[in-house]
Amino acid sequence: MPITIKNKEEIEGMRVAGRLASQVLDYLTPFVKENKTTNHLDKLAFDFITQDIKSIPAPLHYNPSGDNPYPKSICTSINNMVCHGIPNDKPLRKGDIINIDVTIIKDGWHGDTSRMFLIGETSIAAKRLCALTYDAMWHGISKVGPNIPILEIGRAIQKFTEAQGCSVVRDYCGHGIGRNFHEEPQILHFASPEAKTILVPGMTITVEPMINAGRKETKGLPDGWGVVTKDRSLSAQWEHTVLVTETGFEVLTLSEGYPALPAFITSTKT
Ligand code: MF3
Ligand code: CO
Ligand code: CO
Repeated sequence: MPITIKNKEEIEGMRVAGRLASQVLDYLTPFVKENKTTNHLDKLAFDFITQDIKSIPAPLHYNPSGDNPYPKSICTSINNMVCHGIPNDKPLRKGDIINIDVTIIKDGWHGDTSRMFLIGETSIAAKRLCALTYDAMWHGISKVGPNIPILEIGRAIQKFTEAQGCSVVRDYCGHGIGRNFHEEPQILHFASPEAKTILVPGMTITVEPMINAGRKETKGLPDGWGVVTKDRSLSAQWEHTVLVTETGFEVLTLSEGYPALPAFITSTKT
């Protein structure tokens, strides 16, 4: 899917979809608790998305490979899972960390966002990884603006992450987003010389770094979706959908229940 530049009206559609996606996470938050299963969260999300906000869960039956449609409405990636975890009947346990990734379609427009949740008291290492991945995402977002090469986003994320002794996943990346779930350009979360595209106002992209406590290598699961760390270390991810504006960026996937911003972020719209 090529790069698309959204006009005023189209941007308004993206704003609506982004806010709704974030509201799904607000809605799920009180249910993300010990003993709840990810299938339960998936069912809650499906009902909320289809009935309360009259939208479509984009992951459900999403089938980019053509032969392995995604079976659920959200992705739930726990502990050493990097991304694309398929919800199941295993209860969440005290000490788990879980990423919930929500993508909804409203009036044809996609909003894509994810957050980390801690189940009860977790290890200090787990808490630290979730917090630093949050900051890494915001460091990346803070670089978004007109005439900026995409490389700058990845460079900021990589520099911050590696200074904390963690690693940036290379095998999965952010993406353009709009009428399609995944559009060009790829948003790499590390400083790749291949990330040559220059950001232009009206582009909408995701910034969604996956950060591992150990090494960066990943391994796909036999279900064809789930991805885990090769060294079994913990992994965390946060995601926003972001608009490139004439003057900087506007984060589209925000809502009332969104957590506090890092101290170095003074505005979600610059
Ligand atoms: N939401 C993921 C992303 O951020 C993609 C999930 S694809 C799915 O790009 F099919 F696994 F849901
Ligand atoms: Co995404
Ligand atoms: Co996502």
